[in-house]
Amino acid sequence: MIKIERILVPVDFSESSQEALRYGHEMARERNSKVYVLHVINQRIIDALQDMSAKGYKGEFMEVLKNVVKERRDELERFVPATMREDIEVQLEIRKGRPAEEIITFARENQVDLVILGNVGRSALEAALVGSVARNVANHAPCPVLLVRPRA
Ligand SMILES: Nc1ncnc2c1ncn2[C@@H]1O[C@H](COP(=O)(O)OP(=O)(O)OP(=O)(O)O)[C@@H](O)[C@H]1O
Ligand SMILES: [Mg+2]
Repeated sequence: MIKIERILVPVDFSESSQEALRYGHEMARERNSKVYVLHVINQRIIDALQDMSAKGYKGEFMEVLKNVVKERRDELERFVPATMREDIEVQLEIRKGRPAEEIITFARENQVDLVILGNVGRSALEAALVGSVARNVANHAPCPVLLVRPRA
């Protein structure tokens, strides 16, 4: 049998990433795998926060950033159903940076066997069939990648 011991589900809290999480949960239950649920705080947001903070006043930016990390962590906690955590081993992770890069690095460093993502995310343009993060991860991940559409 093909080894799927570690599954990575990157989430941006969109509907399709919720569906990706459902797939990850089911597959992990069947195979007794561990699931990493990873949210990346986009570098673009961090840069914008830094610009908005008083110029040269680093303390304020650090404080704002700390709050954003906490908010995202809380959101991640709420996004992962309690039933999932009872069934299988789940590890929640937050990273900062460019989403695709961070996802690929995380997959490599943790020897992930499968990445499951939504085909689109929060900024889903009507026309886009596959978003840029999904496309980038599919192109460069060190393991197979499964793209999941939101439930009809
Ligand atoms: N910041 C993120 N952290 C973790 N996973 C993410 C992040 N952004 C996207 N993903 C994952 O990638 C999937 C596809 O999202 P993607 O960002 O590629 O599409 P999009 O938002 O519609 O388009 P784009 O971002 O290119 O405008 C999401 O469903 C989610 O699984
Ligand atoms: Mg996106």
